[in-house]
Amino acid sequence: MTAEAGGIEASRLRVLVVVGSLRAQSATRTVALQAVALLRGAGMAVDVLDLAVEPLPLLNTDSSFAAPGFAALRERVVKADVLVLCTPDYHGGISGAMKNFLDHFWHEFAGKLFATVVASHEKGLTVHDQIHTVARQCNAWALPYGVSFVDKEDVREGKHLSEALRLRLEMLSGDVGTYGALLAAQRRQDLAGTGAGFLARLRPRAEG
Ligand SMILES: Cc1cc2nc3c(=O)[nH]c(=O)nc-3n(C[C@H](O)[C@H](O)[C@H](O)COP(=O)(O)O)c2cc1C
Repeated sequence: MTAEAGGIEASRLRVLVVVGSLRAQSATRTVALQAVALLRGAGMAVDVLDLAVEPLPLLNTDSSFAAPGFAALRERVVKADVLVLCTPDYHGGISGAMKNFLDHFWHEFAGKLFATVVASHEKGLTVHDQIHTVARQCNAWALPYGVSFVDKEDVREGKHLSEALRLRLEMLSGDVGTYGALLAAQRRQDLAGTGAGFLARLRPRAEG
């Protein structure tokens, strides 16, 4: 099935880009914002959740889901067809801020596409893997690769991206459009249908 055949064009996708470094001069943020520009350039509707600008208190399952602001944040996650998750490599894993964001949601991720961007000095493979694990636990899909970069080599003077990184981000943006559209079309079809696929349990139940 092509995205067009499924009735969704890449240019109609809704993407949530999450910035998982709280540092003011974060290289992750610089690269994430470049990805935002590319995705918007391709016509996608992009929402940015910068956890430094919109801090999310640590998850407490007694209280977080009723906390002020949670419903609005959840709505943004629900609306997204694709999540682009951008994080620094901390001890071979995702940042605490990113983990905390991911811990707030579960069903909201099901059937959606995750794309990963990692600032690392060592390729960040274990970091991409951790996000892939979260995707699997939450019945989400993930692009089979992630974009990794080295802050001091790929981001010069805090703003200029290396050619290699720019090309990787262009690939990511294109693949978000292509595979995000396919999965969004299928997700909508599955949620509206009667088949027994994994999204069946998330169908809105008829009243009464
Ligand atoms: C607590 C901490 C742990 C880190 N652990 C690693 C690591 O295991 N591997 C690595 O390559 N870089 C590690 N780094 C370096 C950061 O990933 C790197 O500086 C990154 O570019 C920071 O991203 P930012 O500029 O967006 O904050 C660590 C940094 C911190 C603060």
